[in-house]
Amino acid sequence: MDNTPERKQRVLSLIQPTSIPTLGNYLGALKNWKTMSREYDCIYGVADLHALTVRIEPSTLRSQTQQMLAMLLSLDLDPENNIVFVQSHVHTHAELAWILNCYTQFGEASRMTQFKDKSRKHADNINVGLFDYPVLMAADILVYQSQFVPIGADQKQHLELARNIADRFNGVYGQTFTVPEPFIGQKGARIMSLQDPTSKMSKSDANPKASVSILDTPDVILKKFKSAVTDSEASVRYAEGKDGINNLMTIYSCCTGLSYEQIESDFAGKGYGDFKKAVAEAVIEELRPVQETYARIIKDKAYIAECAKSGAEKALYVSQKTLRKVQKKVGLWQG
Ligand code: TYM
Repeated sequence: MDNTPERKQRVLSLIQPTSIPTLGNYLGALKNWKTMSREYDCIYGVADLHALTVRIEPSTLRSQTQQMLAMLLSLDLDPENNIVFVQSHVHTHAELAWILNCYTQFGEASRMTQFKDKSRKHADNINVGLFDYPVLMAADILVYQSQFVPIGADQKQHLELARNIADRFNGVYGQTFTVPEPFIGQKGARIMSLQDPTSKMSKSDANPKASVSILDTPDVILKKFKSAVTDSEASVRYAEGKDGINNLMTIYSCCTGLSYEQIESDFAGKGYGDFKKAVAEAVIEELRPVQETYARIIKDKAYIAECAKSGAEKALYVSQKTLRKVQKKVGLWQG
């Protein structure tokens, strides 16, 4: 009888250390990271190389990378059984990205909507890294032979590109990469701005009332939800054209597990004031454990550095196998 334990399926995702994550990052991605870490073999990283595609102060990048790692460690991910690492500490990502560049067509990379959006936003700095962003992301995913990638809806197109690159490479050289599947939550995949519910909640929004940071205090969270844009109907129901209320219902549902129907019946006849307060309270409760753990971990710089080191060692060990295989297949002489 074979007693070898069955290897768990592998999950991978990264987040950029561009600032403290928003409630959008949390409900769209990090909350699923936490849930999946119980069942899968998970590899989670801080995408500091991706963060270089827009101008960022070196000292800011350094401190935000440590903060983001501390944030991931605060998600109760069990770093013993899962891998938590910083992207630039593991050289295989950038090396595989270079090779994958040569298997990515200029035309398909040009179709990426995030590149077009970011080019518009950063018209004075449309650098090649910004263009190449999704190929590095493909390398992040493929180098670990990842089966599932928990992401928000905005990253779906990038994942599709990673799948195409994997298929193409496998077609030329035989089975090399696992073709990854996106894991996009049914709810929360696209949390919208509290001030303009037709655009996504983003870390870079200039209006501080538009987004909730994972580390906002209860007072600030309450104030932001109180000033959230809604409509003039005063009826809590999920319907077309009610973008503000739909967004609040999604947030409430993600935090409480209640369905839209239950929320509608619980708030029947009540005004938006009551509903906004309930949403704020649910968010405060949802974030409380993460905030408490983060407050403890961020003080312990030695622990953060130790986790970064052991995470990078484990990530390197896993990813090197794929990189070597790819180098061999494409004909790089290994001496
Ligand atoms: P980043 O840091 O921009 O976003 C991190 C994660 O948060 C999700 N997200 C949202 N989800 C719901 N509602 C929102 N308003 C919202 N805003 C952001 C994003 O979809 C993402 O899952 N390119 C990636 C980082 C990355 C990556 C990877 C991800 C680099 N390499 C490999 C997966 C696999 C990104 O968007 O980071």
